[in-house]
Amino acid sequence: MAGLWCVNLGYGRQELVNAAATQMQQLPYYNTFFKTTHAPAAKLAKAIAEVTPGDLNHIFFAGSGSEAVDTIIRLVRQYWCIEKKPYRNIIISRENAYHGSTLAGASLGGMGGMHKQGAPGVPGIEHIRQPYWYGEAGDMSEEEFGVACAQALEDKILEVGPDNVAAFIGEPIQGAGGVIVPPANYWQEIQKVCRKYDILLAADEVICGFGRTGNWFGSQTLDIQPDIMSMAKGLSSGYLPISAVAIGDRIANALINHDDDFNHGFTYSGHPAAAAVALENIRIMKEEKLLNGLPPISARTSSKSCVKPWRTTRWSVTSKA
Ligand SMILES: Cc1ncc(COP(=O)(O)O)c(C=O)c1O
Repeated sequence: MAGLWCVNLGYGRQELVNAAATQMQQLPYYNTFFKTTHAPAAKLAKAIAEVTPGDLNHIFFAGSGSEAVDTIIRLVRQYWCIEKKPYRNIIISRENAYHGSTLAGASLGGMGGMHKQGAPGVPGIEHIRQPYWYGEAGDMSEEEFGVACAQALEDKILEVGPDNVAAFIGEPIQGAGGVIVPPANYWQEIQKVCRKYDILLAADEVICGFGRTGNWFGSQTLDIQPDIMSMAKGLSSGYLPISAVAIGDRIANALINHDDDFNHGFTYSGHPAAAAVALENIRIMKEEKLLNGLPPISARTSSKSCVKPWRTTRWSVTSKA
């Protein structure tokens, strides 16, 4: 588990220790509120934008995965307010998903044990079934189950009203829920539904990011084109706490062109020492070619079967490593 899914570069990396020490001598702290920034945060934002998929080019920093997820909730709701559709505020998540431990993160996640405690949770959150073929598909083939799970999303959207839905959020591969690899067609089917109803797609990459699935992000492995994405953990290999939200042009442009600020942030957002460590972490991942560039899932599936080529490729890559 690499600590708690985070020590992606491994223990004993003196370069990361040095990056933190050097940065603390130069500038131990500054904030990123009020249109300010500092060199490590700016450089890290650029480095992240270079490895994120699609147009996820704008980076908002926070201190933990939960804070990044809270940021996504506030951002997508604010986006729809700017678009003059404030009624679009429901976020659809999945049973047995994990999105953190703050009130919003726990509400968004689908962990029954967490929902029992500290209720009531944050309003405007709905859950659908998880894509757990092995445990919950009955007689359905993997492909049929992928379609059925996307149908569950469409059913939920129609139940609550398409005009009331802001976003769908999911981990590319559910981590804390049991490392649940979805059917190979799952994300394609989910994305069709999101596009049909113009619903924003959020990928929670807190575990899947920074090499865990063979690419920088699980979205690249599973062919997901998110509008917004959270990351933490492997971003700094866990050496210091830092998280980020990568925001696509659609949401970013709306926020930038809007006359009001986005009133959100944390004292330790993009902390200079943590940002310097994350920057060094990304540099080392590139230098050591840590990621083997696994082809996206669409390049590994035939039209007839969504299962076998995916499994075969994964195992052959694993054995090469
Ligand atoms: C997918 C996902 N999102 C969010 C979080 C919350 O991150 P943190 O514990 O840093 O708040 C986690 C933590 O494991 C996670 O796995």
